[in-house]
Amino acid sequence: MKPQSPVHLRVGPAGIGAEWIPGESLFTALRRQGWLVGSACRGEGICGRCGLEVKDPAGGLEPSGDQERRVKVANQVPDEWRLSCLLICPAQLPDTTVIQVHSPAW
Ligand code: FES
Repeated sequence: MKPQSPVHLRVGPAGIGAEWIPGESLFTALRRQGWLVGSACRGEGICGRCGLEVKDPAGGLEPSGDQERRVKVANQVPDEWRLSCLLICPAQLPDTTVIQVHSPAW
């Protein structure tokens, strides 16, 4: 069986390349590669501090679920942002997919 390819990320204002492994949260992927992502709940999906701007031009990512929407509202995270600890890399995305990720803190 062919291993699933990582998804290509462009991170921060300079668009630095990073990889996101299918099944991995965006929070874990970014921290694994040295990016500082806010958190007060260690990626449990409670605090809302891991919110990031995520641009997915191809639209392959799942939309926010109920928990993510609730936590964003409770913590005044912009609705169009994503909670990176709750955003899991899909198993199937086209090889050409490039997702842009940004935080105002970077
Ligand atoms: S790290 Fe707390 S909600 Fe994501």
